[in-house]
Amino acid sequence: TVLVVDYGAQYAQLIARRVREANVYSEIVPHTMTTEAILAKKPAAIILSGGPSSVYAEGAPRVEADLFEAGVPVLGICYGFQAMSNALGGDVARTGLREYGSTGVKTTGDARSILAGTPEDQSVWMSHGDSVLGAPAGFDVLATSEGAPVAAIADEERRLFGVQWHPEVKHSAHGQTVLENFLFKGARLTPDWTTGNIVEEQVERIREQVGTGRAICGLSGGVDSAVAAALVQRAIGDQLTCVFVNHGLLREGEAEQVETDFVAATGAKLYVADEQERFLSALAGVTDPEEKRKIIGREFIRAFEAAEVEIVKESAEEGEPVRFLVQGTLYPDVVESGGGEGAANIKSHHNVGGLPEDLQFELVEPLRTLFKDEVRSVGAQLGLPDEIVQRQPFPGPGLGIRIIGEVNEERLTLLRKADAIARAELTAAGLDQEVWQMPVVLLADVRSVGVQGDGRTYGHPIVLRPVSSEDAMTADWSRLPYDLLARISNRITNEVDGVNRVTLDVTSKPPGTIEWE
Ligand code: XMP
Repeated sequence: TVLVVDYGAQYAQLIARRVREANVYSEIVPHTMTTEAILAKKPAAIILSGGPSSVYAEGAPRVEADLFEAGVPVLGICYGFQAMSNALGGDVARTGLREYGSTGVKTTGDARSILAGTPEDQSVWMSHGDSVLGAPAGFDVLATSEGAPVAAIADEERRLFGVQWHPEVKHSAHGQTVLENFLFKGARLTPDWTTGNIVEEQVERIREQVGTGRAICGLSGGVDSAVAAALVQRAIGDQLTCVFVNHGLLREGEAEQVETDFVAATGAKLYVADEQERFLSALAGVTDPEEKRKIIGREFIRAFEAAEVEIVKESAEEGEPVRFLVQGTLYPDVVESGGGEGAANIKSHHNVGGLPEDLQFELVEPLRTLFKDEVRSVGAQLGLPDEIVQRQPFPGPGLGIRIIGEVNEERLTLLRKADAIARAELTAAGLDQEVWQMPVVLLADVRSVGVQGDGRTYGHPIVLRPVSSEDAMTADWSRLPYDLLARISNRITNEVDGVNRVTLDVTSKPPGTIEWE
C-alpha cells in the first residue's frame, strides 16, 4: 500500500486516484496520524500531499524527521515537499514570490531521477507562496522555476523525493510520468493492483465478515447500490436479499432494469415492494418542491422499513435473522467524513411495528475503499450491464421533482415518454459520456398555444436541461448540436400527446441548480 498523507485541500484524493491508475493500491491517512501509526501500517511508500498552510504558520501541520529514517520511500508534493525540506534541514523561506497556475520549470544538471523521460522545459501546475531556497543535505536539485529555485529534489540513496508542483493534476504535462517514476523507479514497486483483485479481495472479506449470517441491501437503481449488492451476492449468494422499492417515479425501463436485468446478471434474490400507490396518494395535491421532497423521503423510509420487517420476520422464522445491512458507501464519503476505520454500527429505524427495539444491523460496505470510476469497473467485472454501470446520476425523488406542479399518473406517463425519446436520441448521438446528465422537465401547470395539423393546440412545454459537470457542484449547460435538439423536439411534439413545445435550458449552475425543484 502507498499511503497518501493528507495535508488538507482536495489534492490527496486526486493523488490516491493517480497512484491507483498506475495499478498500485493507495490509501489516504490524515496528517494528524502519528509517524509511529503511519509506519505501523507498513506502507510500501509514502506520499505527502499538498495543503493550504505555510510551514511557518502557527499550528501548521509538521512532519517528523523520523518518518524519513524508516527506510520507506517518500515523495513530498507542494506543501509536503516544503514540510519535508523543513524537517530535513533545508532552507524554506517566504520569498514573497507567489506562483499560481501553469508555470514553466527547467531541469538542472544531468540527474533526472523522478523526472526521467520528461523534457528539459515543461509546464507544470504550481500553487505556493513559500519556496525552498536550499535543498537539505544529501539531495540533488532536479529542477527550478522562476519562483522556486529548488523545484524538485532527490536523494536516490535514501529514496526521498520532492516536487514543488502538483504532478497529480492534469495541467502538469508530465505529472503521471513523475508519479510513476517515483513508484516504479524510486520506490521500486510493482504495478499489480487491478479492479480484478478488488473483486476477489472483497469477496473474501465479505465472507469473513458475514459468515453464515443473512444480509439485506436496498437497490435504488443507481450504480453504487447495484455494484455493492452484486459483490455481496457473489460472496454469499442467497444469504443476501435485495430490496427494491418501486415508488413509481422512475423513468421508462428503470424498474425493469432492476427487476429483470440486475437479477439476470447477478442471480440475486430480489424482494420488490410495489409502492406506486402509496407515493401517488401521498403526493396528491402537493405542488411545493420542498414538500414533495419531504414526502417522497418519508414514504421511502416507511416503504423500505415495511419491506425490511417482512424479510426479517421471514428469516427469523427460518432460524437465521438478518444481521447485516449492505451499503454502497464510496471512498470519497469515507474520507470526507473523517476517514474513520472499522465497521460502524447503525441503529435501524425502529418506528415500525414488528422490529425488535434494539435490532442492530452491522454494516457491510464493500465499496468503502473505491472511487466512482473503480466502482464502475468492478460492476463491469461482475457482469452488470452497461445501462446500470455507466448510468448518469438520477435523483432519488425521481420524476417527482421533474414535474413542475402536482404529480399524477397521467403526467408521469407523459414525462416518461418525452424523457425516453430525449435519452434515446442522446445515446444515438453518442453523447452519453460527454453529457453529465440531461433532466427532462414537464411544466405541468404551464400551457401554450400551438398548431398541429389543422388545429389549434393548448399543450404543455417540455424543458431539456443537458449539463456538463465534474461533480454536480457546478455545471454548465451543454452545447448540444442543433440537429440533435431538432430531432428531439420533433419527435417529442409528434409522439407525445399533450406536449406542443420543447425548450432548452441555457442556465449554468450557479445560478440555476441542475434539477428544477
Ligand atoms: P441540483 O439540482 O442540486 O443537483 O443542482 C445536483 C445533483 O444531485 C442530483 N440530485 C439528487 N440526487 N437525491 C439524489 O440522490 C436528491 O434528492 C437529489 N436532488 C438532486 C441531481 O440530479 C444532480 O445530479
